[in-house]
Amino acid sequence: MKNTEPRPRTIIEPFKIKMVEPLPFLSRSERQQILVEAGYNLFLVEAKSVTFDFLTDSGTSAMSAAQWGAMMIADESYAGSQSFSRFQQTVRDLTGYEFVLPTHQGRAAERLLFGVIVKPGMKIPSNNHFDTTRANIEQSGAEAIDLVIAEGRDPAKQHSFKGNMDLDRLDAFCAKYQSEIPCGMLTITNNTGGGQPVSLENIRGVAKIYKKYGIPFILDACRFAENSYLIKLREQNQGSRTVKDIAQETFSLADGCLMSGKKDGLSNIGGFIALKESQWLPALRASLILTEGFPTYGGLAARDLEALSVGLQEVLEEPYLAYRIAVSSYMAAGLNALGIPTMQPAGGHAVYIDAKAFLTHLPPEHLPGQALVCEMFLAEGIRSCEIGSVMFGKTVNGKFQPAAMELVRLAFPRRVYTQSHFDYILEGMAEIAARKERIRGLKISWEPPFLRHFTSRFEVV
Ligand code: F0G
Repeated sequence: MKNTEPRPRTIIEPFKIKMVEPLPFLSRSERQQILVEAGYNLFLVEAKSVTFDFLTDSGTSAMSAAQWGAMMIADESYAGSQSFSRFQQTVRDLTGYEFVLPTHQGRAAERLLFGVIVKPGMKIPSNNHFDTTRANIEQSGAEAIDLVIAEGRDPAKQHSFKGNMDLDRLDAFCAKYQSEIPCGMLTITNNTGGGQPVSLENIRGVAKIYKKYGIPFILDACRFAENSYLIKLREQNQGSRTVKDIAQETFSLADGCLMSGKKDGLSNIGGFIALKESQWLPALRASLILTEGFPTYGGLAARDLEALSVGLQEVLEEPYLAYRIAVSSYMAAGLNALGIPTMQPAGGHAVYIDAKAFLTHLPPEHLPGQALVCEMFLAEGIRSCEIGSVMFGKTVNGKFQPAAMELVRLAFPRRVYTQSHFDYILEGMAEIAARKERIRGLKISWEPPFLRHFTSRFEVV
């Protein structure tokens, strides 16, 4: 009898490569010298010395031929350009929001919105606020409150939607502070919580609560396509819908969004605010003109609007999303098979290695995350980012205070690396795992007064 079941096949990169860039390969001793000169801080290493750059998935996408083509026909008129019309149409079609304001990137959208709607002493809840969102809220004198579910705070715990909001806590919070909440937020996917998705059921629940208290609901939507695809894969009764349909329902549940186009916009720069209603519009436009640019370009060249417009459509192609989500699950499974623990399950855009559980011979004060970041650079030329005691720990009266977790984030640029790159990296990670006891700890030798992970210098202990 003929087997009609589809054959399980390797998920491949659903594109062919038209333009390439060489990968720099340095020797371990060359990297050792570079690392010492950079004070063991990968933010201070030049990109030309990095073979695989997993510092961020933001602004690092490879653009398509269609995006580059659209850039060539951009209309660079100061006001009312056709590029803006096309961009606005794309955003309206995707989100259903009438009012679209371009900005140069996500944090500019944050600064504009909070600058207009926030007064000192107010509070803005979310599952987890991203660092710049939190900083912009605090800069306006308000408080950023994280209400992710308990599972979202436990790296080893398996849960399909660890980005979900704790609805009971949200309801109680809104009841208590109703008049002090200028808007309520939700980050999809939840980057700070490990790139974890939020279920459609939870988004509906969040919308209902904000509506009940008359609080405008604003999505931080920069990874909306990855979130929608994970809903299609994991949530009951969602498997037969298109990702675009799920994304459109997601947006329809909120009153507006803040967007960094540098993630699921598949662009190297750009962002926007989009809103259902116009009540904040005059003030937002005035502030936009003052600091970003005229409302039909918002600090971008029209060619950037074109790239973003095409990117926002391409990102919903399901073969692309299948490949995109396979990247992080493939890497997480490969690392786990080598005994390297990662946050479970893999997130949409990144894998987070649990350095505390992997390098058990290093106590937190010997900075296991930063030690692993440095070893992966020395051995493989990988650039990753410590999210642990360097980023969130403190030194108080000369005494070390560790962070709750010691994570290392490998964030994957979109459409940039192929499966053979990841296989090569996993071969090297096997070697690191085999000699992990020999990895030496680090200590901070110099640190600035704040945001120390960017510029601190370290030495081997
Ligand atoms: N919101 C989220 C959830 C983000 O992840 C980021 C940026 C922003 C807002 C700000 O957008 O960079 O365009 O100003 N995340 C990057 C990262 C920087 O590496 O995770 P932006």
